[in-house]
Amino acid sequence: MQTYRLMTLNRYIAEEQQWHPEATGTFTRMMWDISLAAKLVSREVNKAGLVDILGETENENASGERIQKLDLYAQHRFARTLGRGGYLCVMASEEEADPIPVTDGYPTGPYVVVFDPLDGSSNIDVNVSLGTIFGIYRRVSEGEGPGTLADLLQPGSKLIAAGYVIYGSSTMLVYTSGNGVHGFTLDASLGEFLLSHPDIRMPERGSIYSVNEGNLSRFDPATRRYLAHLKEQAPADGRPYSLRYIGTLVADFHRTLLRGGIFLYPALRRSDGSFKPKLRLVYEANPIGFIAEQAGGRASTGRERILDLQPGELHERVPLIVGSRDDVAAYEAMVREHG
Ligand code: AHG
Ligand code: MN
Ligand code: MN
Repeated sequence: MQTYRLMTLNRYIAEEQQWHPEATGTFTRMMWDISLAAKLVSREVNKAGLVDILGETENENASGERIQKLDLYAQHRFARTLGRGGYLCVMASEEEADPIPVTDGYPTGPYVVVFDPLDGSSNIDVNVSLGTIFGIYRRVSEGEGPGTLADLLQPGSKLIAAGYVIYGSSTMLVYTSGNGVHGFTLDASLGEFLLSHPDIRMPERGSIYSVNEGNLSRFDPATRRYLAHLKEQAPADGRPYSLRYIGTLVADFHRTLLRGGIFLYPALRRSDGSFKPKLRLVYEANPIGFIAEQAGGRASTGRERILDLQPGELHERVPLIVGSRDDVAAYEAMVREHG
């Protein structure tokens, strides 16, 4: 009979530290603080329907979208917790136009964090899964003082860790620090994230595709061809695929990570004929792409590997095609042939 050793996230991270002799415990403390902020946001998300923190505020975020109160709470919780930890030199959030300095009067450190504090805002009021996404870099700027924009605009290939929290039927924290992907489920009665999904591997090919079909007429020809291909009756080739779309990147990706398949958010054609992507490179596509690759999957714009892109500005948007290795490869082949 297999004996399950109750492994908490904090203990797992502390034990991982032993493989990094140069580690000073700073990274470990940072991960502990991220998990603490996640527990606090989880508590608010799970009672959102009960207290008046729903609805919209008068504030707008960097992308010009109305900030929902839960977004604001999550933003403040992560920014305040991380800003005082003494391990960061700078951070960036979807909800702040500019880089966020370390809290006044608190020490700086060697790390950089980028985050989407609350992913899936359109689902806040309808009790559908939400998420938080984070990525961690080492600083590249000189010195020990405040970090710079260059520290935040590193390619995803330079991430040293990335993860997400999914506030769903259960709250899970899924993360990688470059040694595989591991999932921890929150036992609220203990207040602990417990290791529930060690070493997650994404199936090499899936049978689910995830896209907002409402945008079909605005997709490029190669994407439309690819989606039509997935829907053909070809049982010998595992088609048609099933469609699952939640509208929260973290939730659609979490299912893709565990079940395989492909998530697509291609650029959308605008009235002037140009194409505009929606998802943000720095704090959505890069951390999700790092996790996907660490689990054996792939993340692409359709033409390029997401992690190879050099960010030009903090809130830039990219097309995101992420999922099973063979499914993303099939999409890229369609783009090469018909793009
Ligand atoms: P956010 O709430 O952080 O702005 O992210 C929302 C994103 C992402 O979570 C999801 O995949 C996508 O928006 C859904 O977009 P559509 O509603 O256009 O399908
Ligand atoms: Mn988001
Ligand atoms: Mn968000």
